[in-house]
Amino acid sequence: MITLPQIQAMKGQRKISMITCYDSWSARIVNNGPIDMILVGDSAAMVMHGHDSTIPATIDMMVLHTSAVRRGAGDKFIVSDMPFLSYRKGLTHAVEAAGKLMQAGANAIKLEGVEGHEEIVKHLVQSGIPVMGHLGLTPQSVHQLGGNKVQGQNNGQARQIRSDALKLQELGCFSLVLECVPAELGKAISAELTIPTIGIGAGVDTDGQVLVMQDMLGMSSEFKPRFLRQFLDGEKILGEAFAQYDSEVKACTFPAEKESYR
Ligand code: KIV
Repeated sequence: MITLPQIQAMKGQRKISMITCYDSWSARIVNNGPIDMILVGDSAAMVMHGHDSTIPATIDMMVLHTSAVRRGAGDKFIVSDMPFLSYRKGLTHAVEAAGKLMQAGANAIKLEGVEGHEEIVKHLVQSGIPVMGHLGLTPQSVHQLGGNKVQGQNNGQARQIRSDALKLQELGCFSLVLECVPAELGKAISAELTIPTIGIGAGVDTDGQVLVMQDMLGMSSEFKPRFLRQFLDGEKILGEAFAQYDSEVKACTFPAEKESYR
């Protein structure tokens, strides 16, 4: 098992890999491979439930996905997302929400932004809950940001993201996701911080990378942002398998003799 201190010690030594997972069977495949960490992202609301943003994710949804992933993931390090508003309704509510994710099998939680929930981050860390920050494009604020746009492209925004990153480190976050920021900013923040940065659309110089599993498997030919590399043409390959199954059923070539009981 890779532990939190080991993840932190990877900074400057080697890159850290992370992938999202929402279910048990894909977690089992990831667990059998070399990827360092799993993120049970609130992107589950979009990828698994068909919503058009992460806002409909709830704590019950995240607990369900986290426990399913834990059952497949062995002792892989799992980070689970605190969903929309679950850390903005006061300390007690935030602690209860984080506690549910940890009891469902997470090793750490992730939350977006910092302003207004500094005390919550500090309290969770002091309670023994490892916290990963998330800056740049923060999808739970999609309406305020006016869409899923690259952040930190002007000096003022870049300065703000840099100072928020330092603040999260001071508050005790063990790591930080940087989403959709210019590569130069990803590099500068990664050099400035002592905790590892995990980038998604933040260039090659962050300390690690994270991708949404279904995106990197090419499960949607329509979703092709600049930062995404599709490592498989999943939509085509799965589509072909489904069509093959359908045609074999209709041609009575499935099941064959060897696939039938006597
Ligand atoms: O929910 C998610 O999948 C995420 C990643 C995009 C980092 O937060």
